[in-house]
Amino acid sequence: MRLTESGHSVVRVGLGARSYEIRVEAGALTGLGPLVARVVGPSAALVVTGSGPVAAYGDQAALSLGQADIRTYCMQIPRGERRKTLRWVGRICERMAEARLDRRSVVVAVGGGVVGDMAGLGAALYMRGVACVQAPTTLLAQVDASVGGKTGVNLRAGKNLIGAFHQPRAVLIDPDTLATLPLRELRAGLAEVIKHGLIRDAGYLETVKRDMRNLLARDPTALQSAIVGSCQIKAAVVEADETEQGARAVLNFGHTIGHAVETIGGYRRFRHGEAVAIGMRAACLVGEEMGITPPNVSEAVEDILRAANLPVNLPADMAPAGVIEAMGTDKKSSGGRPRFVLLREVGWAEPGFDPDVGIVRKALDRAQIV
Ligand SMILES: NC(=O)c1ccc[n+]([C@@H]2O[C@H](COP(=O)([O-])OP(=O)(O)OC[C@H]3O[C@@H](n4cnc5c(N)ncnc54)[C@H](O)[C@@H]3O)[C@@H](O)[C@H]2O)c1
Ligand SMILES: [Zn+2]
Repeated sequence: MRLTESGHSVVRVGLGARSYEIRVEAGALTGLGPLVARVVGPSAALVVTGSGPVAAYGDQAALSLGQADIRTYCMQIPRGERRKTLRWVGRICERMAEARLDRRSVVVAVGGGVVGDMAGLGAALYMRGVACVQAPTTLLAQVDASVGGKTGVNLRAGKNLIGAFHQPRAVLIDPDTLATLPLRELRAGLAEVIKHGLIRDAGYLETVKRDMRNLLARDPTALQSAIVGSCQIKAAVVEADETEQGARAVLNFGHTIGHAVETIGGYRRFRHGEAVAIGMRAACLVGEEMGITPPNVSEAVEDILRAANLPVNLPADMAPAGVIEAMGTDKKSSGGRPRFVLLREVGWAEPGFDPDVGIVRKALDRAQIV
């Protein structure tokens, strides 16, 4: 990480010809235009943003692009995970065609992970790939979804079943946008922050734990440092395994059961981060049953999730059998057998476990006990 004189932080994602910088800076959205002009130098831009409060950030981004003499178009996607579909990606591509965007154009995603995942996929597909710049506005997207090049949409059968690897050309994070984020969304973002600490960096997790009150109170210094720390961890994992041939899978900690919970809840009941919190705790119980995760590690996971006010139990009305069935369609499963990332200790996770269904069942039963 570089901390420059003006107080902003830059995390570099080193991927050879596809390398890029993540810039974290309060008020950064107003500098989006010059950044896109410098890094991409596009013929034109499409700003894809969400509905509601986030639309104002889209306008700010469009204004800055226009001021940098970039021909700019805008498009809004109605909010909600249920909109994360191929149909909406099709509409993004139609909008690009209408605006006569060519191969040298750029798609700028201004919003949460839903907007980022869809705009990224649109950029990957339109004319077989145009540039994408991510300007995430939720904590979850700032610490996770905007970095690493995974783009995708859901099918009825499950989460993110269609997608592409398409690295952004730059990520511009403006923590000031978090001022308008509902508290529930802020907490959901903390689930991925905690995940990053748990899987790779016990020291970072300690800092997050110490700063928890300040993070929930949106203290700018605490937020900036959590965002930069998470981006560093994610960047290092992605650099080692860009297309998830092996090691990158650690980032899926909590997602095997988390995705099933999200799907069963109709993408409405739980925020992604909340489902991941439930999934991380349940994965600890799977790890305990397999003799991989020590009980005191599970307790530490539960404690920090509770400190962030995140859910940790599988809801009583969510039958373990239904969760197991939903896991079968997850793309992390292999031959119908769900695959798990398990914690060996705080700060170290390993991917590639495929426990017997009886073990998963036992862990899910335990996950329901409050
Ligand atoms: N590509 C990846 O590597 C990756 C990683 C993690 C998560 N994801 C995906 O990200 C998605 C979840 O992202 P999310 O949690 O950001 O959800 P989201 O995109 O649905 O955003 C949450 C809500 O906050 C609103 N919002 C966004 N920014 C705001 C702001 N600054 N102020 C007020 N409201 C604002 C949005 O309109 C939305 O209603 C999931 O689909 C998940 O699968 C992808
Ligand atoms: Zn996630």
